[in-house]
Amino acid sequence: MAIEAPATRPANPRFSSGPCAKIPTFSLDLLADAPLGRSHRAAIGKEKLKAAIETTRDVLGIPADYRIGIVPASDTGAVEMAMWSLLGARKATMVAWESFGAGWVTDVVKQLKIDAEVKTADYGQIVDFATIDFNTDVVFTWNGTTSGVRLANGDAIPADREGLTICDATSAAFAMDLPWDKLDVTTFSWQKVLGGEAAHGILVLSPRAVERLESYTPAWPLPKIFRMTKGGKLIEGIFVGETINTPSMLAVEDYLVALDWAKSIGGLKGLIARADANTKVIADFVDSHDWIDFLAADPAIRSNTSVCLKFSDDRIKDGAAFAKAVAKRLEKEGVALDIGAYRDAPAGLRIWCGGTVETADVAALMPWLDYAFNAEIAAQ
Ligand SMILES: Cc1ncc(COP(=O)(O)O)c(C=O)c1O
Repeated sequence: MAIEAPATRPANPRFSSGPCAKIPTFSLDLLADAPLGRSHRAAIGKEKLKAAIETTRDVLGIPADYRIGIVPASDTGAVEMAMWSLLGARKATMVAWESFGAGWVTDVVKQLKIDAEVKTADYGQIVDFATIDFNTDVVFTWNGTTSGVRLANGDAIPADREGLTICDATSAAFAMDLPWDKLDVTTFSWQKVLGGEAAHGILVLSPRAVERLESYTPAWPLPKIFRMTKGGKLIEGIFVGETINTPSMLAVEDYLVALDWAKSIGGLKGLIARADANTKVIADFVDSHDWIDFLAADPAIRSNTSVCLKFSDDRIKDGAAFAKAVAKRLEKEGVALDIGAYRDAPAGLRIWCGGTVETADVAALMPWLDYAFNAEIAAQ
């Protein structure tokens, strides 16, 4: 029997988990105000960088006494900068439940060789934060982009902790409520939830993180690109837009445009509502189809950005090949680009649901999942 393709296609087939879909109103014309060919240290450049920092604070509700810096090398740069500069003063706890968290474990254990307890959970599960000693420095990822598992909240992090919490929040910021009082270092990149450009990261420091920077000097040398202090004092300029090295003013403009859009749809609340609505469309589809499931079984820890799905049908002979074939078919049809599971993750699909994705597009994609699944079952 011929399997019929759905009549409607998503208007935008971009469901990649990074770089993520640009804002729905995006056009290159919106970047016309970028001060291209000008020094980032000229007044106009500094103004733009400062606006990027202060609008980030405004949209995310970051406390006034937290420092926000624009740093090189995207989220990875921000996390490495934090770990290399802050860790080693006390014991560390490295927490990981998917590939990116596991990468930070490798850095700390194999490269920095710090005394660390490593706590991990399998794909689809999370580490129980009640078992963590927060008098150590704790490094974790808020949302595991490759497993679709996120922390439900920061309740298990004590207010009177002695250690620092270092949180990679790159696929969480702008889609989830982050408890700033529980986070000493928070990082993210522009290319994720706001659909910005890669290359730059944001580093958010609590007053306690700054205190550590000013009172502790790591035993290892720090390259210029990581250095946040001079003569034992924080280089405050970094946190008002005097970046360590040259940023892309085109990427800065693009981020400012995305922040403006975020404000226009209701700020963080609006962004969270959009991500939740997108994820609900998928949850409803999963509920009504018995051959597909979330990788994260527990809804309380299910991501509303990087939604990871697995196929659960006895007729599937080779799980990895099947999932790849479904993703390939959807890409060929032009209805979903880049939705194969991450290379280190269990076989399946990953559909980005962050706020720049339109709910109507997620809804239009669902019948295509059905179509591609049945077509691949028939083709086996
Ligand atoms: C949780 C997490 N951490 C780090 C990264 C690396 O981000 P970037 O490539 O922006 O440095 C990613 C990218 O997907 C991620 O999802």
